[in-house]
Amino acid sequence: MDQSGEAASRAEERCATFQRRLERHGERLRANLQQLYGRSPGFENWYDALITAVTVAAEARPEALVDLDERREADPGWFLGPDMLGYSAYVDRFAGSLKGLRDRIGYLSGLGVRYLHLLPFWKTGAGDNDGGFAVSDYSQVRADLGDITDLEPLTAALRGSGISLCVDLVLNHTASNHAWALAALAGDERYRAYYHVLDDRALVDRYEAALLQIFPETAPGNFTKVEALGGWAWTTFYPFQWDLNWANPAVFGEFSAIILSLANHGVEAFRLDSAAFLWKRLGSDCRSQPETHLVLQALRAILAIAAPAVLLKSEVIGPVAETAQFLGGAEAPECHLTYHASLMTAGWAALAEGDAGLVQAVLDATPLPPPGTGWITYVRCHDDIGWMSLTPQAAKEPGEALDRLSRVAARYAQGGEGNFGRGQSFQSGDDDRIHGLNGTTASLAGLEAARDPIEIATALDRNALLHGLALAAGGLPVLYMGDEFGQLNDYAFESDPDRAHEGRWLHRPAFDEAAATASTDPVTLQGQIRARLAELLQARVALPALSPGTAPASLQTGTPAVLGFRRGQDHVALFNFSSQPHPTLLPAAGDAWRDLLSGALVQEGMTLKAYGMAWLARIGR
Ligand code: GLC
Repeated sequence: MDQSGEAASRAEERCATFQRRLERHGERLRANLQQLYGRSPGFENWYDALITAVTVAAEARPEALVDLDERREADPGWFLGPDMLGYSAYVDRFAGSLKGLRDRIGYLSGLGVRYLHLLPFWKTGAGDNDGGFAVSDYSQVRADLGDITDLEPLTAALRGSGISLCVDLVLNHTASNHAWALAALAGDERYRAYYHVLDDRALVDRYEAALLQIFPETAPGNFTKVEALGGWAWTTFYPFQWDLNWANPAVFGEFSAIILSLANHGVEAFRLDSAAFLWKRLGSDCRSQPETHLVLQALRAILAIAAPAVLLKSEVIGPVAETAQFLGGAEAPECHLTYHASLMTAGWAALAEGDAGLVQAVLDATPLPPPGTGWITYVRCHDDIGWMSLTPQAAKEPGEALDRLSRVAARYAQGGEGNFGRGQSFQSGDDDRIHGLNGTTASLAGLEAARDPIEIATALDRNALLHGLALAAGGLPVLYMGDEFGQLNDYAFESDPDRAHEGRWLHRPAFDEAAATASTDPVTLQGQIRARLAELLQARVALPALSPGTAPASLQTGTPAVLGFRRGQDHVALFNFSSQPHPTLLPAAGDAWRDLLSGALVQEGMTLKAYGMAWLARIGR
C-alpha cells in the first residue's frame, strides 16, 4: 500500500474505533445529559453540537495518544500496579517554570514516579488566587510559569519517561476575573447564567442555613455581595472564586471542550477539584448531590469516547462513605481515582492517640473499589488535614466525635512538652471548633521538634510508618513534594503580606535543592528518609497481593495500638502506632512468614518496636 493508501486505511480504522466507542458509551452519555438538561430549550441541538465537538476532538487526537488509548483500553487497571507512584507539586515551588520541570524529570524517575500531579498553573487574577485555584483561563499559563506552548513538550517528555501528567481542573468555580465572569459583570445575561447569582437575600439565607463553611475565618459564608451583579454570587470558597452553575448545559459544554483540548495536548489525568460541590439543592448541604455524579459520569463517557487513555480523579474531602461514591460502579463508571482522605487523616489521628482504632475503623468502612478504579493514598498534600472526614468513625454521637478529634488536633497544633508534632490549626481559632491542620509530614511527625538522636530516629519511624500505610493500603500512592527527604515547615509565609492570611503555605515550601542533593547520600538525615522510602517502594513491588482486586481484611492483633490487615492469604501488614513496643499475634500460628522490610523470618508472633511496622509475605506452612 502506498502512503496515501496507508493513511486512508488508518483513518478508516480510527473512524471505526470511534464508532464502536460511541455506541458503547453514547447511550449513557445521552441518558445522563437528558436527565440533567433535557428540559432546557434546544436540548436536542445542543446535544448534537456536543457530539460533533467530541467527534472533532477524536479526529484531531495525535497518533501517539491514539496508541496510548488503545493500549490502556486493553489494560484498564494500568495505573494501579504496585510499581505506580505519584508525586504532587507546585510548578514554581518545585521547578520554577514548566520548562524547568523538564529538567526535573530525571529526579522524578529516580524516585520511581510514574504519575505527576501539578497544582494549577493556569492563568489567574492578580493578587490572591488560592494557590492557583482561582483560574481565569485554561488556555493560558500563569505568565511567570511559562506559556501554553510549553505544555505539549512537557507532556511528551514526561510520557517518554513513563510519567503521566495530571493537571487541575477546578470544576466548582472560576476566578471572578475569568472572561465568563467579566462578561456577567458587564451585564451579559448569557454569562450571568454560568454562575449562581441570587438577587434575593432571603433566599441566600435559606441556602446558608444548610450549608457548611470551608473557610469560616478568612472567607465566612457562602455568598458574596457583588454590586455590579446586583446580587449575591455563590462563593463556597473565597469571594474571588465564583461557583459555576452546572445546571446550565453551557457550563458542561465549556468544560467538556477544555478537557478534550487538554487531553489532545497530552494531559493524561485530570484532578477534578472541589468535585463535591457542583450541584446545588435548597435545604441540603449541596455536597455530592446525585446530579453531581451524573455530571461526572457524563464527562467520563466523553473521555471514554474520544480519549480513553485519560484518567479522572475526583477531589472530594469527606468521609469514606461519601468519597467512595465518586468511583461509580460497573454500570455507571465515574472517576478512576479518588482521594482516600479519611485514611490519610486516620493515620495522623492514630499517631496522636497511640491507638490504631481509627485507621482500622476507616479500613473496615472502605468498600473494594469497582474494577478499573482505585484510591489515591497519601500522607500529606498541599491542603490542610481535615479532621471532620473522620466524624463517622470517631464516635457514635457527632458531639463525641468533635471532642475526640479536637483532642487529636490539639496534639499537633499546641506544641509543647509531650506533643511531637509542630502544626498549626487551620480555620479553627476557637477551642470548640475543629477544622483542619497545617504542617509538613516531617514537622508533624516530630522531626522539627526533635532534640536528640533518639527523638530524630523516632520521628523518622513515624514518618516511615505513615508512608508505609499509604503504600500498603492499595491504590495509587502520591507523595507530596519534599516529603521524600523530610522538608520541614516553611514559616516564611507569615511575614509575606500576600500569603500571611493563608496558613496552608506552612506546608508548601520551595523545593530545597541542597536537601535534595543531600538525600542521595544515605548517611545524611535526608538520605535516611529517602532510603527508608526506597525500601518501602521496593518491597511494595514484590507484593502481588497489593493488586487492586484484593481488599484489605482486618486482623485481630491482640493490642489496640497495632493495626493489622491481610491482603489475600499471603500478605499481612502490621503497624504499631504507639511509642511503646508491642508483641503482636499472627493470623495462623505455625505458618512461616518473611518480613519484606527487615528480611527477618517470622513464625508464631513478633514484637513490633515503637512506631514499627512489618510487611509479611507467607513463605510456607
Ligand atoms: C480544593 C483545593 C484547595 C482549594 C479549594 C478551592 O480543595 O485542593 O487547595 O483551596 O479546592 O479551589
